[in-house]
Parts: sequence; structure tokens; C-alpha cells
Amino acid sequence: MQILNGNEVSKKLREEIKNEVGMLKNVGKKTPHLAAILVGSDGASITYVAAKEKDCKEVGFDSTVLRFDATMTEAELIAEVEKINNNPAIDGLIVQLPLPKHINEKKVTETIDYRKDVDGFHPMNVGLMFKGLPCFLPATPFGIIKLLEHYNIETIGKHCVVIGRSDIVGKPMSALMLQKNCTVTVCHSRTINIEEHIKRADIVIAAVGIPEYVKAHMIKDGAVVIDVGITRVEDASTKSGYRLKGDVAYEECATKASYITTVPGGVGPMTRVGLLLNTLNAVKNK
Ligand code: GUN
Repeated sequence: MQILNGNEVSKKLREEIKNEVGMLKNVGKKTPHLAAILVGSDGASITYVAAKEKDCKEVGFDSTVLRFDATMTEAELIAEVEKINNNPAIDGLIVQLPLPKHINEKKVTETIDYRKDVDGFHPMNVGLMFKGLPCFLPATPFGIIKLLEHYNIETIGKHCVVIGRSDIVGKPMSALMLQKNCTVTVCHSRTINIEEHIKRADIVIAAVGIPEYVKAHMIKDGAVVIDVGITRVEDASTKSGYRLKGDVAYEECATKASYITTVPGGVGPMTRVGLLLNTLNAVKNK
């Protein structure tokens, strides 16, 4: 069994991005500038946005975080998005989700100029992705593809089972694995005999949000196991008071898998680098 080390691969990719930022200047292009909008005070969202800010700084990007109170109206948020759409200094924009209940996420996502939509959530980017055309790919599936490519994991003709059908991970992941010539099955909460599907998978991508859902008896010997889960579970012994748990029962699955990701240190850092790659491409493709 080999660990697919997201920390290591993302470090290498971040170094490459940093070098490219230097080269952009030499060919007269600008320093990539990512803007993030954070509405309210959701703990996980604050952590994610801070991490994105830190990542930008590390690779030499400019970054701006706009923080607003949870009482902000939908119209006010849309006006802020439009301001950034029209600001040539900013290359990429993310509106951190979830948004407060009174704001329609779909409406906000669709207001972002798709040429700055480095999350890849705009329907224009979704359509381009499904057609295999150049676009911004959602960061997590993009990062997973980069991880599989780094380790030369064979995908042609392999059976990939994606567990979960979210717009952010499951659906785009299935489209990208199809483009990598896998036979793809997407399982979800209404799937009948889900374990029979998972058992047939050469590559399992678990994005279900249930801690330790995938057990050793569900996977095939030699399967490649990718764990997208990051559920916070209470743990009084840690400084933060919680611990991150993946969707895969790691210890038992590691004995059967050929390749496996850990949580943390697997998909998480690859997601972060996926966003940086999109922001870099926003400038490179101008
Ligand atoms: N909330 C959880 N994941 C994401 C993400 O990838 N992008 C945004 N904008 N919000 C998120």
C-alpha cells in the first residue's frame, strides 16, 4: 500500500506556481489577485478563507478578503460581486459558502463573471467542464486529478465509483473521471445495494460526508481509495476541541488498498492548490 501524499504533492505544485508568478512578470502579465467574500462568522468558513489567504501569500499572489456581517442583504452582496466583476485588478473571486439562509447561493454564484469564477461553480464553467473544454475546474476534483496524475494511477478502462453527488465534488468528479476514460458509477443516498457497487470499484472516491463510512469489507483488494471527507468530530484532547475525520475507515482500508489518501494530508491540500492553479490560469489565459 502506498499513501497518496497530498501534502507533498501540493508543496511541489505550490513551488511550481511560485516560479510561474515570477515568470508572468517577465512576460508583462500581472500578479494574480484572488478576492474572497466571507459573509457571517461560520467557524469552518473563517478557517478556510484564512487558509486561502495564507496560500496566496506563500505563492506570491495578491489577495483581498471582504468580510461582511451575516445581516447583509442579498442585493448588497450582489452589488459587491458586481464591483469585483468590474475591477480589472482582481483576477479571481470566490464567495465562501454556505451563505446565510436569506441569501440565494445560486443567484450569487451566477452573478460572478465566469472568467473570474475560480471556484468553477458558474453554470458556464460547469458546461465547459462537461464538454471537456478549457474552464475553471472545481478545486477538489481538480486537485484529485492532479494527485492521481502525480502518482501515475492508471484510469483507462478502470471502474471508478464516486460516492456522493454534490455539485461541488461528486458530479464534477464523475465527469472528470469519465474524461480520464474510466467507467464511472455515481452512488448516492438513494442507491440500492451501494456496497455491491463499491466492491466492484478499482478507484473509490468517497465524498459522502459520513465519518468512516467506507469500511474494508466494502472495497476490492488493491483498490485506489480517495477520501474527500472532512467532518469535524468533537475531541476534547485536541487544542481546537475537534478532530477531522474522513469518509473512509483508514486503518482497516489501508491494509487492502493499493493506494490511499489520509485525512488530513490527502485531498485537503490538493483542493487548496486547485484554487491556486485556477487563479494562476485566470491571469495566464488573459
Ligand atoms: N465552502 C466549502 N467548500 C467551498 C469551496 O470550495 N468554495 C467556496 N466558495 N465555498 C466553499
